[in-house]
Amino acid sequence: MKKRILTGDRTTGKLHFGHYVGSLKNRVSLQDSYDSFIILADIQALTTHFNDPKKINKGIMDVALDNLSVGLDPEKITLFQQSQVKSIAELTIFYSMFVSVNSLRHNPTVKTEAKQYGYEDLSYGFLGYPVSQAADITFCNADLIPVGEDQLPHIEQTRKIVRRFNDLYGGGEQILRVPEALLSDTSRLPGIDGNAKMGKSLGNAIYLSDDKKIVTKKVKMAKTDTNRIHLIDKGNPLVCTVASYHKAFNQENYENLCDMCKNATIGCSTCKKELADALNNIQEPIRERRSYYKEKPELVKEIINEGSKKANVIGDEMVIRVKEAMHLML
Ligand code: TRP
Repeated sequence: MKKRILTGDRTTGKLHFGHYVGSLKNRVSLQDSYDSFIILADIQALTTHFNDPKKINKGIMDVALDNLSVGLDPEKITLFQQSQVKSIAELTIFYSMFVSVNSLRHNPTVKTEAKQYGYEDLSYGFLGYPVSQAADITFCNADLIPVGEDQLPHIEQTRKIVRRFNDLYGGGEQILRVPEALLSDTSRLPGIDGNAKMGKSLGNAIYLSDDKKIVTKKVKMAKTDTNRIHLIDKGNPLVCTVASYHKAFNQENYENLCDMCKNATIGCSTCKKELADALNNIQEPIRERRSYYKEKPELVKEIINEGSKKANVIGDEMVIRVKEAMHLML
């Protein structure tokens, strides 16, 4: 039997090249060897965007399209919507009884995000979202969770919840499986403005859904070594966003381009043109799949609904086992 993977994204907007290198590419290569569950985390999106539900609704389709366009095959994977899977909500309630508020307050990712959103008095749902994420992972007894580094505190929290649950209610049995993080290569992709991180909310992203013209334009705008003003100035690839993109997307030419930059034998505009070509090459099959699915929104909805149905069957069974272990069944 194949091991089970569970991973996914908050549905607050379309995904970008940072997501592609950090996770999507990895998902595609894992889909043959693992039973893969991909969650469209719309409830988790509500924790920060509860006042903008329309954005989340659009985000569900955008994120689904991004996942399908990069080559995840709906025949192989289970793509599902978090809010449609009842067992996730039920498990969240049960786990919340023995998770301490302080452990959530000290979660470094929760802290960083609270700061980022300017929250002082955290909502119950936001503070508790790692508990809900534990439910995302355990409703289907996932073995492995492919994530970036920022998610490690949540996986650790999930492992703690699982161990505690098994201790409290298992009677020597492992009712829930202890999952493991599968850390993806997260040499973080910088934004086109030179910011250390490409981010939706930072306005510095190249989206997977951007067309050729926009990609080329964004690459043209990307920040390079600011000390390199004239063509004869020698450049420093270590402080150039375009160089980091070449490293991520045009590996075979990376060293060579760096040498030319350092010797001032290539100009920034030529180097950028080469990058735009490399990105557009990667995007070609992605665009093709996207236009196929985009013309068939009903098909995309059906894929999500079928996935959610399957998740519900698995989750409902888990909830019965959990309730039995907790002596809630008469
Ligand atoms: N927290 C993840 C993110 O912000 C999204 C997510 C929700 C997730 N549930 C999950 C990731 C379960 C892995 C497993 O990207």
